[in-house]
Amino acid sequence: MATGGDPAASFVDTLPKAELHVHLEGTLEPEDMFAFAARNDVDLPWASPDELRAAYSYTGLDRFLELYYRGCTVLRRRADFHELTAAYLRRAAAQGVRRAEMFVSPQSFLDAGVPVADQLGGVLDAIAEARTDTGIDGALLVIAQRHRSEAEALELLEVLAPHRESLLGVGLGGAERGNPPSRFARFFADARRRGYRLTCHAGEEGPPEYVREALDCGVERIDHGYTAAGDPALVARLRDEGVPLTMCPLSNLRLRVTDDLSTYPIAALHDAGVVVTVNSDDPPYFGGYVADNYRALGLPDPTLAALARNGFTASFADDATVAAGRRAVDDHLAACG
Ligand code: HPA
Ligand code: ZN
Repeated sequence: MATGGDPAASFVDTLPKAELHVHLEGTLEPEDMFAFAARNDVDLPWASPDELRAAYSYTGLDRFLELYYRGCTVLRRRADFHELTAAYLRRAAAQGVRRAEMFVSPQSFLDAGVPVADQLGGVLDAIAEARTDTGIDGALLVIAQRHRSEAEALELLEVLAPHRESLLGVGLGGAERGNPPSRFARFFADARRRGYRLTCHAGEEGPPEYVREALDCGVERIDHGYTAAGDPALVARLRDEGVPLTMCPLSNLRLRVTDDLSTYPIAALHDAGVVVTVNSDDPPYFGGYVADNYRALGLPDPTLAALARNGFTASFADDATVAAGRRAVDDHLAACG
Protein backbone atom coordinates (compact mmCIF):
# COMPACT_ATOMS: atom_id res chain seq x y z
CA MET A 1 0.00 0.00 0.00
CA ALA A 2 1.40 3.42 -0.95
CA THR A 3 1.84 5.89 1.89
CA GLY A 4 2.79 9.51 2.38
CA GLY A 5 4.70 11.45 -0.26
CA ASP A 6 6.72 8.58 -1.70
CA PRO A 7 4.49 6.44 -3.90
CA ALA A 8 7.05 3.60 -3.86
CA ALA A 9 7.22 3.41 -0.04
CA SER A 10 5.26 0.50 1.40
CA PHE A 11 3.26 0.25 4.61
CA VAL A 12 6.15 -1.67 6.17
CA ASP A 13 8.91 0.75 5.07
CA THR A 14 7.26 3.71 6.75
CA LEU A 15 5.78 1.81 9.71
CA PRO A 16 7.42 3.36 12.84
CA LYS A 17 9.57 0.68 14.42
CA ALA A 18 11.75 -0.10 17.40
CA GLU A 19 14.62 -2.51 16.72
CA LEU A 20 15.65 -4.32 19.91
CA HIS A 21 17.84 -7.16 18.68
CA VAL A 22 20.67 -6.22 16.35
CA HIS A 23 24.39 -6.94 16.80
CA LEU A 24 26.45 -3.99 15.56
CA GLU A 25 29.27 -6.29 14.41
CA GLY A 26 26.60 -8.22 12.55
CA THR A 27 25.67 -5.13 10.50
CA LEU A 28 29.03 -5.20 8.70
CA GLU A 29 28.24 -5.15 4.97
CA PRO A 30 30.68 -7.19 2.84
CA GLU A 31 32.14 -4.15 1.02
CA ASP A 32 32.72 -2.38 4.36
CA MET A 33 34.33 -5.51 5.84
CA PHE A 34 36.85 -5.49 2.98
CA ALA A 35 37.45 -1.73 3.33
CA PHE A 36 38.15 -2.08 7.09
CA ALA A 37 40.37 -5.12 6.42
CA ALA A 38 42.43 -3.17 3.87
CA ARG A 39 42.99 -0.13 6.04
CA ASN A 40 43.75 -2.21 9.16
CA ASP A 41 45.94 -4.69 7.27
CA VAL A 42 43.82 -7.70 8.30
CA ASP A 43 43.74 -10.87 6.18
CA LEU A 44 40.36 -12.34 5.28
CA PRO A 45 39.79 -15.88 3.98
CA TRP A 46 37.57 -14.62 1.12
CA ALA A 47 38.94 -13.07 -2.08
CA SER A 48 36.11 -10.56 -2.54
CA PRO A 49 32.82 -9.31 -1.08
CA ASP A 50 30.97 -11.58 -3.52
CA GLU A 51 32.93 -14.60 -2.34
CA LEU A 52 32.03 -13.66 1.24
CA ARG A 53 28.35 -13.38 0.26
CA ALA A 54 28.57 -16.83 -1.27
CA ALA A 55 29.73 -18.11 2.14
CA TYR A 56 26.53 -16.84 3.82
CA SER A 57 25.13 -20.37 4.03
CA TYR A 58 24.96 -21.96 7.45
CA THR A 59 24.10 -25.33 8.90
CA GLY A 60 23.37 -23.75 12.28
CA LEU A 61 24.41 -21.12 14.82
CA ASP A 62 27.95 -22.44 15.38
CA ARG A 63 28.84 -22.35 11.69
CA PHE A 64 27.47 -18.81 11.42
CA LEU A 65 29.40 -17.67 14.51
CA GLU A 66 32.69 -18.93 13.02
CA LEU A 67 32.21 -16.70 10.00
CA TYR A 68 30.89 -13.81 12.10
CA TYR A 69 33.85 -13.85 14.52
CA ARG A 70 36.22 -13.89 11.54
CA GLY A 71 34.47 -10.80 10.19
CA CYS A 72 34.84 -9.08 13.58
CA THR A 73 38.65 -9.15 13.27
CA VAL A 74 38.57 -6.23 10.81
CA LEU A 75 37.28 -3.84 13.53
CA ARG A 76 40.37 -2.44 15.25
CA ARG A 77 40.00 1.28 15.82
CA ARG A 78 37.60 3.73 17.40
CA ALA A 79 36.82 5.10 13.91
CA ASP A 80 35.77 1.61 12.76
CA PHE A 81 33.18 1.29 15.53
CA HIS A 82 32.03 4.83 14.80
CA GLU A 83 31.57 4.26 11.05
CA LEU A 84 29.96 0.85 11.52
CA THR A 85 27.37 2.27 13.93
CA ALA A 86 26.71 5.38 11.84
CA ALA A 87 26.10 3.24 8.73
CA TYR A 88 23.67 0.95 10.58
CA LEU A 89 21.75 3.86 12.10
CA ARG A 90 21.42 5.54 8.69
CA ARG A 91 20.01 2.36 7.15
CA ALA A 92 17.74 1.73 10.14
CA ALA A 93 16.34 5.28 10.05
CA ALA A 94 15.64 4.84 6.31
CA GLN A 95 13.64 1.70 7.19
CA GLY A 96 11.42 3.53 9.68
CA VAL A 97 13.34 2.65 12.87
CA ARG A 98 12.84 5.35 15.51
CA ARG A 99 14.36 3.54 18.49
CA ALA A 100 17.33 1.16 18.17
CA GLU A 101 18.68 -0.82 21.14
CA MET A 102 21.88 -2.31 19.77
CA PHE A 103 24.29 -4.98 21.02
CA VAL A 104 28.07 -4.93 20.98
CA SER A 105 30.26 -7.80 22.29
CA PRO A 106 33.57 -6.35 23.53
CA GLN A 107 35.34 -9.53 24.68
CA SER A 108 36.88 -10.66 21.37
CA PHE A 109 37.97 -7.08 20.59
CA LEU A 110 39.54 -6.80 24.05
CA ASP A 111 41.47 -10.01 23.32
CA ALA A 112 42.67 -8.41 20.07
CA GLY A 113 43.95 -5.41 22.02
CA VAL A 114 41.20 -2.89 21.21
CA PRO A 115 40.54 -0.84 24.38
CA VAL A 116 36.91 -0.88 25.53
CA ALA A 117 36.94 2.94 25.58
CA ASP A 118 37.65 2.92 21.82
CA GLN A 119 34.93 0.35 21.11
CA LEU A 120 32.22 2.06 23.16
CA GLY A 121 33.41 5.60 22.45
CA GLY A 122 33.11 5.09 18.69
CA VAL A 123 29.63 3.58 19.01
CA LEU A 124 28.36 6.22 21.45
CA ASP A 125 29.64 9.13 19.32
CA ALA A 126 27.77 7.72 16.31
CA ILE A 127 24.59 7.33 18.40
CA ALA A 128 24.77 10.98 19.49
CA GLU A 129 25.39 12.22 15.93
CA ALA A 130 22.57 10.11 14.47
CA ARG A 131 20.18 11.51 17.07
CA THR A 132 20.89 14.97 15.65
CA ASP A 133 21.03 13.96 11.98
CA THR A 134 17.95 11.72 11.63
CA GLY A 135 16.28 11.82 15.06
CA ILE A 136 16.80 8.08 15.58
CA ASP A 137 16.95 7.26 19.29
CA GLY A 138 19.82 4.80 19.82
CA ALA A 139 20.98 2.98 22.93
CA LEU A 140 23.65 0.38 23.62
CA LEU A 141 23.64 -2.99 25.40
CA VAL A 142 26.78 -5.02 25.98
CA ILE A 143 26.83 -8.77 25.40
CA ALA A 144 28.97 -11.31 27.24
CA GLN A 145 29.89 -14.42 25.24
CA ARG A 146 28.46 -17.56 26.78
CA HIS A 147 31.14 -19.92 25.45
CA ARG A 148 33.49 -18.14 27.86
CA SER A 149 33.46 -18.56 31.64
CA GLU A 150 31.22 -16.69 34.06
CA ALA A 151 34.40 -15.29 35.64
CA GLU A 152 35.18 -13.59 32.32
CA ALA A 153 31.65 -12.19 32.16
CA LEU A 154 32.04 -10.78 35.69
CA GLU A 155 35.40 -9.30 34.69
CA LEU A 156 33.68 -7.65 31.72
CA LEU A 157 31.32 -5.86 34.14
CA GLU A 158 34.40 -4.49 35.93
CA VAL A 159 35.91 -3.30 32.64
CA LEU A 160 32.63 -1.59 31.76
CA ALA A 161 32.30 0.17 35.12
CA PRO A 162 33.70 3.56 33.95
CA HIS A 163 31.11 3.54 31.14
CA ARG A 164 28.14 2.39 33.22
CA GLU A 165 26.11 5.59 32.78
CA SER A 166 26.42 5.44 28.97
CA LEU A 167 25.13 1.89 28.71
CA LEU A 168 21.53 0.72 28.78
CA GLY A 169 21.97 -2.92 29.65
CA VAL A 170 23.76 -6.21 29.27
CA GLY A 171 22.93 -9.56 27.71
CA LEU A 172 24.33 -12.96 26.86
CA GLY A 173 25.07 -14.20 23.32
CA GLY A 174 27.16 -16.66 21.34
CA ALA A 175 27.02 -20.46 21.09
CA GLU A 176 23.90 -21.46 22.99
CA ARG A 177 23.86 -25.27 23.20
CA GLY A 178 25.67 -26.52 26.29
CA ASN A 179 25.95 -22.97 27.71
CA PRO A 180 22.76 -22.48 29.75
CA PRO A 181 21.83 -19.13 31.32
CA SER A 182 21.98 -20.69 34.81
CA ARG A 183 25.77 -20.80 34.41
CA PHE A 184 25.64 -16.97 34.41
CA ALA A 185 23.32 -16.41 37.38
CA ARG A 186 25.93 -14.39 39.30
CA PHE A 187 26.69 -12.32 36.18
CA PHE A 188 23.03 -11.33 35.85
CA ALA A 189 22.74 -10.65 39.61
CA ASP A 190 25.85 -8.44 39.57
CA ALA A 191 24.67 -6.60 36.43
CA ARG A 192 21.30 -5.94 38.03
CA ARG A 193 23.01 -4.57 41.17
CA ARG A 194 24.93 -2.20 38.93
CA GLY A 195 21.69 -0.91 37.43
CA TYR A 196 21.78 -2.51 33.98
CA ARG A 197 18.68 -3.68 32.14
CA LEU A 198 18.96 -7.42 31.41
CA THR A 199 18.43 -9.45 28.26
CA CYS A 200 19.54 -12.96 27.30
CA HIS A 201 19.68 -14.95 24.06
CA ALA A 202 17.72 -18.09 24.86
CA GLY A 203 15.61 -20.59 22.96
CA GLU A 204 17.30 -19.95 19.60
CA GLU A 205 18.80 -23.43 19.34
CA GLY A 206 18.61 -24.24 23.05
CA PRO A 207 15.62 -25.90 24.74
CA PRO A 208 12.70 -24.13 26.47
CA GLU A 209 14.48 -24.91 29.74
CA TYR A 210 17.11 -22.28 28.85
CA VAL A 211 14.34 -19.68 28.50
CA ARG A 212 13.05 -20.67 31.96
CA GLU A 213 16.54 -20.35 33.39
CA ALA A 214 16.90 -16.88 31.86
CA LEU A 215 13.61 -15.85 33.48
CA ASP A 216 14.83 -17.29 36.79
CA CYS A 217 17.96 -15.10 36.43
CA GLY A 218 15.70 -12.02 36.34
CA VAL A 219 16.13 -11.32 32.63
CA GLU A 220 13.64 -8.70 31.38
CA ARG A 221 13.62 -9.61 27.70
CA ILE A 222 14.38 -12.87 25.88
CA ASP A 223 16.37 -12.60 22.63
CA HIS A 224 14.84 -15.09 20.17
CA GLY A 225 12.75 -17.36 22.45
CA TYR A 226 11.73 -19.37 19.38
CA THR A 227 11.70 -22.78 21.08
CA ALA A 228 9.45 -21.47 23.89
CA ALA A 229 6.57 -21.57 21.39
CA GLY A 230 6.41 -25.36 21.70
CA ASP A 231 5.99 -25.27 25.49
CA PRO A 232 2.48 -24.07 26.52
CA ALA A 233 3.37 -23.68 30.21
CA LEU A 234 6.33 -21.47 29.30
CA VAL A 235 4.23 -19.44 26.87
CA ALA A 236 1.79 -18.82 29.74
CA ARG A 237 4.66 -17.77 32.00
CA LEU A 238 6.03 -15.31 29.42
CA ARG A 239 2.53 -13.87 29.03
CA ASP A 240 1.84 -13.68 32.76
CA GLU A 241 5.23 -12.15 33.61
CA GLY A 242 5.03 -9.79 30.61
CA VAL A 243 8.51 -10.72 29.39
CA PRO A 244 8.86 -9.86 25.67
CA LEU A 245 10.59 -11.92 22.97
CA THR A 246 12.83 -10.21 20.40
CA MET A 247 12.28 -12.57 17.48
CA CYS A 248 14.37 -12.56 14.28
CA PRO A 249 12.57 -14.40 11.45
CA LEU A 250 15.24 -14.23 8.71
CA SER A 251 17.96 -15.20 11.20
CA ASN A 252 15.92 -18.20 12.33
CA LEU A 253 15.36 -19.19 8.70
CA ARG A 254 19.01 -18.85 7.65
CA LEU A 255 20.27 -20.67 10.77
CA ARG A 256 17.75 -23.47 10.19
CA VAL A 257 16.03 -22.86 13.51
CA THR A 258 12.86 -22.92 11.39
CA ASP A 259 12.47 -24.20 7.83
CA ASP A 260 9.42 -22.26 6.78
CA LEU A 261 8.28 -18.76 7.73
CA SER A 262 4.69 -19.58 6.76
CA THR A 263 4.46 -21.53 10.04
CA TYR A 264 6.62 -19.13 12.07
CA PRO A 265 5.09 -18.96 15.58
CA ILE A 266 5.14 -15.18 16.02
CA ALA A 267 1.43 -14.72 15.21
CA ALA A 268 0.47 -17.65 17.47
CA LEU A 269 2.55 -16.23 20.33
CA HIS A 270 0.95 -12.83 19.78
CA ASP A 271 -2.52 -14.39 19.88
CA ALA A 272 -1.50 -16.18 23.11
CA GLY A 273 -0.77 -12.79 24.70
CA VAL A 274 3.04 -12.79 24.59
CA VAL A 275 4.71 -9.46 23.72
CA VAL A 276 6.53 -10.52 20.54
CA THR A 277 8.70 -8.18 18.44
CA VAL A 278 10.39 -8.27 15.01
CA ASN A 279 14.12 -7.67 14.62
CA SER A 280 17.05 -8.32 12.27
CA ASP A 281 19.87 -9.83 14.43
CA ASP A 282 22.74 -9.66 11.88
CA PRO A 283 21.18 -8.14 8.72
CA PRO A 284 23.68 -8.74 5.86
CA TYR A 285 24.52 -12.20 7.19
CA PHE A 286 20.84 -13.22 7.17
CA GLY A 287 19.59 -11.38 4.10
CA GLY A 288 17.60 -8.47 5.47
CA TYR A 289 17.23 -5.42 7.69
CA VAL A 290 14.27 -4.99 10.01
CA ALA A 291 11.68 -3.97 7.39
CA ASP A 292 12.66 -7.05 5.37
CA ASN A 293 11.97 -9.16 8.46
CA TYR A 294 8.49 -7.65 8.82
CA ARG A 295 7.79 -8.27 5.12
CA ALA A 296 9.04 -11.87 5.30
CA LEU A 297 6.28 -12.71 7.80
CA GLY A 298 3.53 -12.26 5.19
CA LEU A 299 1.05 -11.08 7.85
CA PRO A 300 -1.73 -8.50 7.37
CA ASP A 301 -0.89 -4.83 7.98
CA PRO A 302 -2.87 -4.55 11.28
CA THR A 303 -0.93 -7.53 12.71
CA LEU A 304 2.38 -6.01 11.59
CA ALA A 305 1.31 -2.76 13.26
CA ALA A 306 0.57 -4.66 16.49
CA LEU A 307 4.07 -6.18 16.36
CA ALA A 308 5.59 -2.74 15.75
CA ARG A 309 3.62 -1.38 18.72
CA ASN A 310 5.06 -4.23 20.79
CA GLY A 311 8.56 -3.09 19.77
CA PHE A 312 8.05 0.19 21.60
CA THR A 313 6.30 -1.52 24.54
CA ALA A 314 9.21 -3.95 24.92
CA SER A 315 11.90 -1.28 24.61
CA PHE A 316 13.78 -0.01 27.65
CA ALA A 317 12.97 3.59 26.70
CA ASP A 318 11.26 5.99 29.12
CA ASP A 319 7.46 5.97 29.31
CA ALA A 320 6.99 9.09 27.16
CA THR A 321 9.14 7.63 24.34
CA VAL A 322 7.25 4.34 24.50
CA ALA A 323 3.89 6.12 24.40
CA ALA A 324 4.98 8.34 21.48
CA GLY A 325 6.20 5.31 19.52
CA ARG A 326 2.97 3.41 20.07
CA ARG A 327 0.94 6.45 19.06
CA ALA A 328 3.02 6.86 15.88
CA VAL A 329 2.23 3.25 14.94
CA ASP A 330 -1.50 3.81 15.53
CA ASP A 331 -1.42 7.01 13.46
CA HIS A 332 0.38 5.21 10.64
CA LEU A 333 -2.19 2.39 10.63
CA ALA A 334 -5.07 4.89 10.69
CA ALA A 335 -3.53 6.86 7.81
CA CYS A 336 -2.98 3.75 5.71
CA GLY A 337 -5.90 1.59 6.77
N1 HPA B 1 22.81 -15.83 18.50
C1 HPA B 1 23.74 -15.77 19.44
N2 HPA B 1 24.76 -14.93 19.39
C2 HPA B 1 24.83 -14.09 18.36
C3 HPA B 1 23.89 -14.11 17.35
C4 HPA B 1 22.82 -15.02 17.43
O1 HPA B 1 21.93 -15.11 16.57
N3 HPA B 1 24.26 -13.15 16.48
C5 HPA B 1 25.38 -12.58 16.94
N4 HPA B 1 25.74 -13.15 18.08
ZN1 ZN C 1 21.26 -12.16 18.40
